[in-house]
Amino acid sequence: MEKEMTIHTEKDFNYWVEKGKEMIRDRQKRISRAKKWKFDTVATHGLYDLNQALKLNNGSIMEPVYLSPAQAYENSYEMEAGLAYEMPTWCYSRIANPSTYFLEETAALLETYGSDLEATALATSSGMSAIRTATDSFLVKDERFPKPNFVASAKVYGGSFQQFWVRRWQEQGIEVRWIKNPLDLEEWQSKVDDNTRFLYGEFPSNPSVDIFDITAVSELAHAFEIPLIVDSTCASPALTRPLLLGADIVVHSASKVISGSGTSIIGLMIAKKNIVSKIGTDEMREDFGTWAKLWPYRDNGPSISPMSAILTLNDMRTLRMRVEQMSESAMKVARFLESHPKIESVHYPGLESYAAHNLAKKYMKLVDSDKNLYGYMLAAEIKENAPGESINTRKFYDALKMIWRATDLGRVKTVATLNAISTHQQQGEEGRALAAIKPSTCRIACGVENADDIIADLEQALNVI
Ligand SMILES: Cc1ncc(COP(=O)(O)O)c(C=O)c1O
Repeated sequence: MEKEMTIHTEKDFNYWVEKGKEMIRDRQKRISRAKKWKFDTVATHGLYDLNQALKLNNGSIMEPVYLSPAQAYENSYEMEAGLAYEMPTWCYSRIANPSTYFLEETAALLETYGSDLEATALATSSGMSAIRTATDSFLVKDERFPKPNFVASAKVYGGSFQQFWVRRWQEQGIEVRWIKNPLDLEEWQSKVDDNTRFLYGEFPSNPSVDIFDITAVSELAHAFEIPLIVDSTCASPALTRPLLLGADIVVHSASKVISGSGTSIIGLMIAKKNIVSKIGTDEMREDFGTWAKLWPYRDNGPSISPMSAILTLNDMRTLRMRVEQMSESAMKVARFLESHPKIESVHYPGLESYAAHNLAKKYMKLVDSDKNLYGYMLAAEIKENAPGESINTRKFYDALKMIWRATDLGRVKTVATLNAISTHQQQGEEGRALAAIKPSTCRIACGVENADDIIADLEQALNVI
């Protein structure tokens, strides 16, 4: 006969607090173990070990999808300790979920790989909500700095441009100061003042593939006691880990190369411990990721589906190998296009003609190798007969047969995008000029197909012009 579960009333509040400490020690042990592994091993196993499988998950070798909305507690004291944040708990799925934890723990390890830095990751419902979560807490009311502003590279994804320009500046009155040339440190310096709350840049930017000196800009930020936030979607930790270069917080649209097979819209925010910020409390600075999860994330609700978390985690295991193949193809495609008579110019960090090629060489390297690789994305200008035209560009674009016409990138399938009529359509002439997007700009995000086939499709489409 089955025994009924015993309710242990002797397990009081302190019992659960002690239990929580034991759980934290066990987690630290698993972190130390993972810190000794190579990148691919971390990506594959994260913090999920045999003990977790046997004790918590019926021996499941893969991290399970916990679709349950809430955790049941053994008694009232466990609930009280958990909800007082005195012990690790996943209480309610909007706030925390075991499947989401598996993803977050692995993301934090990958983004700090190759260092003894510790970081905390937070998975969000989209890249845009990761950006919102990463920036919100620095823009709060603070009497000491009455007119908040922030300084951001203008070479950012169209959605980020809209969030900063329309939602923050026009609707909320929080000034965004654009950096036209993110390579120009003097321009960054000239825009920062005592009311600046953070600096922000994309590395490399979507779609213009611009980069900036993360270390130099982080030093400037820290001199003003503010954090540097980097959107590293188009590099990914397989190539560049901004936290190791001085950044405080990294955001990803994990909807891109991190979840390359394209099953989820998802964001990640990864913050290192002890970030620099004159705004906020000590608790917030010490562990921004955990603080954000326990407070604003809980209250604002940008959580993700546990299913998306596990789908993303599954893709993340093969991140390095996909980034290698995709980047090698992008390099071949860039060289092919650069030498093609119908192409005006190609913007790709791997090309010698790229203005910041040496900086890219310094910051973009396939993890666990000596190989410089420059990412999967490039921007090409198609030759037109007059400035501002897109006649040839559209002929070429509409002739593509295998490559998808879509607004997407980082996917296992190659995608081409005309940014002036898609990602940056709503920004108007001025916004597009700031982001260096012309009607003849075509962004190509290489997938994992054989590079010869990608080039063959581009070549036949260029022949149509
Ligand atoms: C660089 C970059 N950041 C953020 C985003 C927004 O991410 P999501 O579409 O997941 O909200 C994108 C989307 O394309 C992007 O390319």
